[in-house]
Amino acid sequence: MRQTAAAIDIGTSKVVCMIAEKGVYDGFNLLGISVNEYAGYDRSGWLEPRELKYTISSVLREAEKQAGRRLRRVHVGVPGDFTEVILKKASLSFGKARRITQDDVELLFKRGENFSAMRDYSVAHRCPIHFLVNGERKTMDPLNMMASELSAMVSYVLVNKGFMRSVGALMESEGYVIDSAVASPLAQALAFIPAEMRDRTSILVDIGNRSTSISVLKGDGMLYHNSVRIGGLHITRDLAMLMHVDDEIAEQLKRRAVYGLSVSRDDVYELLPKGSSRIQSFSAMKVQEIINARVDEICDIIKKELEQSGCILPEYVEIWLTGGTSGMRGIREFMQKRLNRGVSLIQPKSTRLNKPEYSSALGVIDLALDNITQEEVPLLEQIKQIFKK
Ligand SMILES: Nc1ncnc2c1ncn2[C@@H]1O[C@H](COP(=O)(O)OP(=O)(O)OP(=O)(O)O)[C@@H](O)[C@H]1O
Ligand SMILES: [Mg+2]
Repeated sequence: MRQTAAAIDIGTSKVVCMIAEKGVYDGFNLLGISVNEYAGYDRSGWLEPRELKYTISSVLREAEKQAGRRLRRVHVGVPGDFTEVILKKASLSFGKARRITQDDVELLFKRGENFSAMRDYSVAHRCPIHFLVNGERKTMDPLNMMASELSAMVSYVLVNKGFMRSVGALMESEGYVIDSAVASPLAQALAFIPAEMRDRTSILVDIGNRSTSISVLKGDGMLYHNSVRIGGLHITRDLAMLMHVDDEIAEQLKRRAVYGLSVSRDDVYELLPKGSSRIQSFSAMKVQEIINARVDEICDIIKKELEQSGCILPEYVEIWLTGGTSGMRGIREFMQKRLNRGVSLIQPKSTRLNKPEYSSALGVIDLALDNITQEEVPLLEQIKQIFKK
């Protein structure tokens, strides 16, 4: 039987569940997909914990129904808000020169794994940025090399234990267990930023509903990550408050506006509010001004985050933009100008899910399926696979 995995991806506006099986040669086939909007979470925790339990169980049951199978083990996509990255140099000294083995590499990764200041976090991914053999030869594949010393720059991707405990308890009460924690920023980057772009360093920006996640990638690892509490919801709320409309109309205005388009004083957006037979007009100029102010603020935050990331980011390092808010028309061109570097939109190719808000769940199921294979392949092969990417 082909390998199958189930994953849920938890955002601040929706929970997505995907069940997929590995493709014959490459990629995967989606067997079940379900999406449920819910109240989300903020700094204080889940906004409606009871609703979350219902949301998680209904997305899982719906995806299972579509896939025609029941799965007990589920991978959990951990959002950027609950993910941390620690970059560390780890070293091993063998005394005299010998061939480097898989056990050495594993021990090396373990060496760096002491995070006394991060007691609330556990390691979800260990990604080598590069290895250094005998203190001088930089490589991505040290296996079988003769050396008396091996060191590596390792990116440890950590996930918040409290988040995992909370989701784990809800899933358990519905008869599911967590298979693994998958950091969604890393998963998205691996799935949607081409490897050759990551090798040269790339930036991933996911502008969602309540949060914006900013990550710097190098090879298969993350150099930096931070999540900021600002997103599309703030734009909707600004529009609702300043245009004196309810959230639903504000949301429609946000989706209608074309960012950066020049509008005149007389231009209007016409909307037919739900349940009404009267078309309402809104000044396009005013809508633009409100949206511009927030997107400007988001750009400033991204700029500041990148400046203080400590990463070397020349102008050729591109931004890969995703998350529901990146669906805003014209935002790519605006950000490109504002941030002074290339911006590409991540657009999942799946015909059913070709919107940026699904890139996170697609990345998570992709990495989860990858890990299934890895569990069955000896570590030596796993390491080779990492280097082949
Ligand atoms: N076409 C569009 N134009 C403008 N905004 C959009 C569009 N489509 C979706 N959005 C906005 O994207 C946001 C949802 O994005 P997404 O689904 O990526 O969030 P999430 O993953 O649930 O939350 P987060 O990533 O913040 O935890 C909402 O604020 C929604 O209004
Ligand atoms: Mg998201």
